[in-house]
Amino acid sequence: MTLPASFLIEICYLIATALFVLSLMWLSAPTTARRGVLAGEAGMVLAVGGTLFEKGIIDLHWVIVALAIGAAIGIPLGLVQMTAVPQRTAVSHAFGACCVTLVGTAEFFLRSPNVPKFTMAVLSLEVILGGLTVTGSLIAAGKLQELSFIPQRPVTYRGQNIANLAILAVAIALGVLLVLNPAHPVLFLVMIGVALVFGVMLIIPIGGADMPTVISLLNSYAGLSAAAMGFVLNSKLLIVAGALDGSSGFILSVIMCKAMNRSFTNVLFGAFGQVQTTAAAAGEARTVRSATAEEAAAILGAASSVVIVPGYGMAVAQAQHKVRELYDVLTKKGVDVKFGIHPVAGRMPGHMNVLLAEADIPYDRLLEMDQINSDLPQTDVALIIGANDVTNPAARTDTNSPIYGMPILDVDKARTVMVIKRSMNPGFAGIDNPLYYLDRTLMLFGDAKGFVGDIVRELTGGAHH
Ligand code: TAP
Repeated sequence: MTLPASFLIEICYLIATALFVLSLMWLSAPTTARRGVLAGEAGMVLAVGGTLFEKGIIDLHWVIVALAIGAAIGIPLGLVQMTAVPQRTAVSHAFGACCVTLVGTAEFFLRSPNVPKFTMAVLSLEVILGGLTVTGSLIAAGKLQELSFIPQRPVTYRGQNIANLAILAVAIALGVLLVLNPAHPVLFLVMIGVALVFGVMLIIPIGGADMPTVISLLNSYAGLSAAAMGFVLNSKLLIVAGALDGSSGFILSVIMCKAMNRSFTNVLFGAFGQVQTTAAAAGEARTVRSATAEEAAAILGAASSVVIVPGYGMAVAQAQHKVRELYDVLTKKGVDVKFGIHPVAGRMPGHMNVLLAEADIPYDRLLEMDQINSDLPQTDVALIIGANDVTNPAARTDTNSPIYGMPILDVDKARTVMVIKRSMNPGFAGIDNPLYYLDRTLMLFGDAKGFVGDIVRELTGGAHH
């Protein structure tokens, strides 16, 4: 007995749907995250594979050409440095949203003028969300990549929010007109054009520091537009996958906002991320105490408890393997070493967990902010490796600070604080860090990988003077 192709296709879609749900579930914990990635990939292979058996596909040649082009772009994109993953993700969203918008356009022209009202409403939603995600994501990626022709700083002007709302209102009004009378291909194209412009206008007032949150929100828009496409194409798989994407992107942006103590409206309309030059300049005159690797090693070796706080600088320096060596020597000496992980340390969610997992640091040594903060007052040494904003006590104490209210790792409560960074330059938020001027703080100036390596050498007695 041979099974009909349509049955096999449905089975493929069903398994793919289940795999997407499992993937998200597994991705939420470091121990199962790799399995989650594999499940997502397998689900995507089944979803694409099943679609290739659809009756509507009569010529596979173009599909193969498209696959080749996609692979040629996708493979180098997958090989970018970990620190470039946020902008890489934004580019992927732009491609996804572009695809959704093109499919929506094709469907409109195939069906116009006989588009039922519900389908037309969903099609409009699909291309508006898709269109704004294309340009919005490209601008976000450009800002993060620091492309010279895209301003990093928030671009703001008077009445901006009202102007933006007006542009969105025009796009929606065009959608309503099309629902009432779908026989207007020009209106449809204008609607897409307005959505593309809206995407640019929506993102330019947002500063580089908020881009990861915005990218996650754009992820959610891309998911919602894919779900809308699912309604148009009558594909349950697309509806489910789009809804999963839409809701997980949204939840992630909410988590990031919470970790930075910002509201959504503040991220989207607050023009945050302007560099506070005055604060940084005022800091230059104050003095800090610095120490050598030898001194740092002596303090660490004599401590009974050490909390290591990694940040973006550890990622830049690719210091995670040296950090693992440091963990090993200190643990061997009987020092209790834990890691304090701030939810927005680095440049993307889970950034520190991924790096430390790569260096095989046991998961049970990585503690989240709330857990480690209760330990820090009893900790001998807080060793900060390339982190800055997530340790800034101004967030607790200085009501004028742009990061006031952001939950931070209370490293300033440890008995001794040591900070590895290359200079007195500020971190992502562009503000000075009063932690560096405390009496108990020692600055360890240098590259994270090199400095940690030097400390390890001192501790293992490998250095000769
Ligand atoms: P940052 O505040 O950006 O500080 C990183 C520090 O690392 C810098 O001050 C830099 O100082 C140092 N550094 C850079 N390269 C280094 C190297 N090779 N060796 C040693 N040090 C190096 O990082 P953070 O504390 O991880 O905070 C993350 C920031 O990103 C927060 O402001 C957060 O709100 C923002 N953000 C994060 C996310 C996510 S999801 N992670 C999302 C949105 C926003 P020097 O230049 O002096 O070396």
